[in-house]
Amino acid sequence: MSKRIYVLLFILLCLCRFLPARAQEDIETRVEGILSTLTLRQKIGQMNQLNARKPDEKLYQQIRDGEVGSILNAEDPVLLNRLQQIAMEECNARVPLLFARDVIHGFKTIFPIPLGQAASFNPEIVEKGARVAALETSEKGIRWTFAPMMDISRDARWGRIAESFGEDTYLSGVMGMAMVRGFQGDDLADPTSIAACAKHFVAYGAVEGGRDYNVSYIPERQLRKTYLPPFERSIREAGCATLMTSFNSNDGIPPSANRFLLRDLLRDEWGFDGVVVSDWASVSMMIRQGFCEDRKDAARKSALAGLDMDMTSECFVDYLEELVREGDVPESVIDQAVRNILRLKFRLGLFSNPYTDLSKVSCMYAPAHLEAARQAAAESFVLLKNTGNLLPLSRDIRSVAVIGPLADAPHDQLGTWCFDGEKEMTRTPLQAIREQYGDQVTIHYAPGLAFSREQSVTGFDAAIEAAQQAEVILLFIGEESILSGEAHCLAGLDLVGAQAELVDAMKATGKPLVTIIMAGRPLTMGKQLAQSDALLYAWHPGTMGGPALAGMLWGETAPSGKLPVTFPAHVGQIPLYYNQERIGRPANRKELLLDQIPQEARQSSLGNTSYYLDAGFDPLFVFGYGLSYTTFTYSGLTLSREELSPEETLKVSVTLVNTGSREGTEVVQLYISDLYASVATPEKELKDFCRVTLKPGESRMVEFELPVENLSLWNIDMQRVIEPGKFDLMIGGNSRDVLKASFRVK
Ligand code: NOJ
Repeated sequence: MSKRIYVLLFILLCLCRFLPARAQEDIETRVEGILSTLTLRQKIGQMNQLNARKPDEKLYQQIRDGEVGSILNAEDPVLLNRLQQIAMEECNARVPLLFARDVIHGFKTIFPIPLGQAASFNPEIVEKGARVAALETSEKGIRWTFAPMMDISRDARWGRIAESFGEDTYLSGVMGMAMVRGFQGDDLADPTSIAACAKHFVAYGAVEGGRDYNVSYIPERQLRKTYLPPFERSIREAGCATLMTSFNSNDGIPPSANRFLLRDLLRDEWGFDGVVVSDWASVSMMIRQGFCEDRKDAARKSALAGLDMDMTSECFVDYLEELVREGDVPESVIDQAVRNILRLKFRLGLFSNPYTDLSKVSCMYAPAHLEAARQAAAESFVLLKNTGNLLPLSRDIRSVAVIGPLADAPHDQLGTWCFDGEKEMTRTPLQAIREQYGDQVTIHYAPGLAFSREQSVTGFDAAIEAAQQAEVILLFIGEESILSGEAHCLAGLDLVGAQAELVDAMKATGKPLVTIIMAGRPLTMGKQLAQSDALLYAWHPGTMGGPALAGMLWGETAPSGKLPVTFPAHVGQIPLYYNQERIGRPANRKELLLDQIPQEARQSSLGNTSYYLDAGFDPLFVFGYGLSYTTFTYSGLTLSREELSPEETLKVSVTLVNTGSREGTEVVQLYISDLYASVATPEKELKDFCRVTLKPGESRMVEFELPVENLSLWNIDMQRVIEPGKFDLMIGGNSRDVLKASFRVK
């Protein structure tokens, strides 16, 4: 009897092993089946994505005629079901539409901006946030989002840095994969899963001068080393279903028509079988970029290069049929693109389940969603200064002044990119302080400025009076949400409006000053840092930013975030990032600055280093920096071996001790440095990290395993290899203050 059960179990297990392959084979067969029934016009229709903000009879007819494959920006499920019904019942192609929307850091429940999420160094909260977003988004019938944005961002002037995971390739890859997993869940066919879209392919974060939509010049090695790995990992390791090409031309070629990127690399090297969509009208934009003669030429070039879907420019639907008939685009190119699109629709289960269930109980703003958003916000905060342990606030404090334009700015704390977030549902710091601590402290509230850009100082008197009545000032400043995000770039990174003057005024009261900065990017706030006794960087923290901040100020949670980007001291230092390639004359901090150089000093080319006379070299804060309410020390860095071969794994251990008097979480960071190679290598590169929570006085041996294959580089012949030689390995709580040990690869 038991033997039979074992045999049955064995057979079942064997079958399960083949199930995914079998399911994939089934999908391919069904894709071919549908493809063979479509006319050329209907196939091209699949490659057309339209904007349906205001659907009209023209759109209905286009769907009826089989000229639309996907629709973005509609979010009323009743309307979506109606559009789907036209596609499924009134068009003889009978291919479901795929509805898409930008859900970047939350649908209704808004999570911190991605840059803030990256500061958590906690992929679990990123995954959870994306899962919440998927649950809320899919409830409306939307099954495709255009996230994660995994553009490496090393220029805080670029408004879209807010949407990124920062400057580091490894961190962006880890966070990007987590977001993909959260959106897509265990099975894309689950009605609560939504397809993710890795964007923007590629080097969009490297646009010149941080000006959006501009050009970039990233050569192939740098692409492969720095910009491509997050995309490659999200596709190969996390199974990201789709990818979006970027607006910028890179080295003269717009990615929407870059055959090397879309065919050689993406399909042939990485084996991607998902959908490649253009960015908004980036196909027709190639005319203005001087890369295409007209819309027909743009359709031809991008289809031939391997673009599957044209977002809104309608060049494909207007010209591809003609181009096929004229022999300029082979029909096999169309077929391949349509296979990719149909495959995605099958994977999403849309053929069997095209409609949205309108009877479901809504999960928008579910308590678990709000709690996840609160936790994500709390973990995103980075404590940058805390003189005399002013934070957390002592329970003896009986009165606080809540000042600043962002103390009660429910719209602005949501951050960029939330089409669907509602300020009515946002919990601001002022509300939360009143609710959570209003019975313990007297709150004197005066914003001083109505919004971040306000120049008028008429509100200052009230703010000063409020501050004078309180024991501590909690000053909430930063940026309105509209100052970052797409197309919202800045040439300067100082506080806008009269906020610097507001800090001056608060400082002048002599009261202990806690500054909380809510912003979409690093700001150059060196002066305000010096003026503040404590400074907490809170990014744009989303719906639950208020409770998360209040809880942290009063010590119910402790800061554990670390900076995912270098904070420049001066805007002119940009680009400034921790993992720059080695240079021959690095700054040594012995350099003379502007006011130290003697008059009529002679110019010399000897002994000089790479720095600015007026801004030195050091950033305001290095990558990976962040304090907690306790302190940690590192000791006893040990490597398992001094010499390894490429197939081996290095084991690394270090002892971490909580030397303070409160529990805290430290992000332990592991960096390596390849000291000599066939091409110049970065000063250091993050290779791993983990979060460790310790009680006061507790110590823990923290261990990492580093496979030597993770040390590969793109060598002088543009091959990915592991070169023998000496490496430094560094561990610490930020990218500067590290313990170091060395090893060799044979
Ligand atoms: C343009 C943006 O660059 C992209 O990120 C976004 O997904 C599309 N518009 C769709 O709204």
